[in-house]
Amino acid sequence: MAEREIMITSDGSVTVAIPELNVTYHSKHGAIQESRHVFIEAGLRPLLHRQETLYIFEMGFGTGLNALLTLIEAEDHQQKIHYRSVEAYPLEAAMVARLNYCEQLQLPALKPLFGQLHTTPWDQPIPLTSWFTIQKDHTLLFNLSTSQPFNLIYYDAFAPGAQPELWTVEAFTHLFNLLTAGGILVTYCSKGDVRRAMVAAGFIVEKIPGPPGKREMVRAIKPTEGSAL
Ligand SMILES: C[S@@+](CC[C@H](N)C(=O)[O-])C[C@H]1O[C@@H](n2cnc3c(N)ncnc32)[C@H](O)[C@@H]1O
Repeated sequence: MAEREIMITSDGSVTVAIPELNVTYHSKHGAIQESRHVFIEAGLRPLLHRQETLYIFEMGFGTGLNALLTLIEAEDHQQKIHYRSVEAYPLEAAMVARLNYCEQLQLPALKPLFGQLHTTPWDQPIPLTSWFTIQKDHTLLFNLSTSQPFNLIYYDAFAPGAQPELWTVEAFTHLFNLLTAGGILVTYCSKGDVRRAMVAAGFIVEKIPGPPGKREMVRAIKPTEGSAL
């Protein structure tokens, strides 16, 4: 495993960098800002209160920032969320201890819950609050299967330059098959090749405004039967 380092992003929240691969876990322009914009506002918010329980899948648990922001939404909006996340290379506890998200969000009381997001056992559903249940799978994305399809996918893989195999037609076909009809996939990456791979997998793809530092991001929808492609 390549060496990982903590770095501070422009909004004061930290992220993790892997210098050898030239990747960071979030945008250098602001980790919290990016996660909120791409996953919470473009992905989760439009789906709130559409059904009793929302099933969300995240590619790459990493720092747990997306899970934390989603837990906060579940509590604030009293929406039951079942959150499943896959992670092949979990962060070491010493690095988790340096993540400053609860402080930056001015929610220090959430620190124990944030800790629990990281320490819950793998591969089983764990209810953390009455609104939020998490299941983390310690495996590779392509090994994941589910009997409960997802309403929403947070696609937060490393960029195509570092992990090209995760942005192919095969990868998006796998994700397409994990979604309910009408389900949504959001991601920060809006490259032409990536959008074409999504379309080839069956998605309807739209480009929408990106977070600070990024002009566009993508929201892809799995069509419902009879919807126009
Ligand atoms: C861009 S980071 C995003 C992390 C996370 N969403 C966050 O907010 O910190 C990508 C994550 O995917 C994980 N990862 C990379 N390849 C993977 C694979 N094939 N299967 C599962 N996880 C993978 C990495 O270890 C890393 O944690």
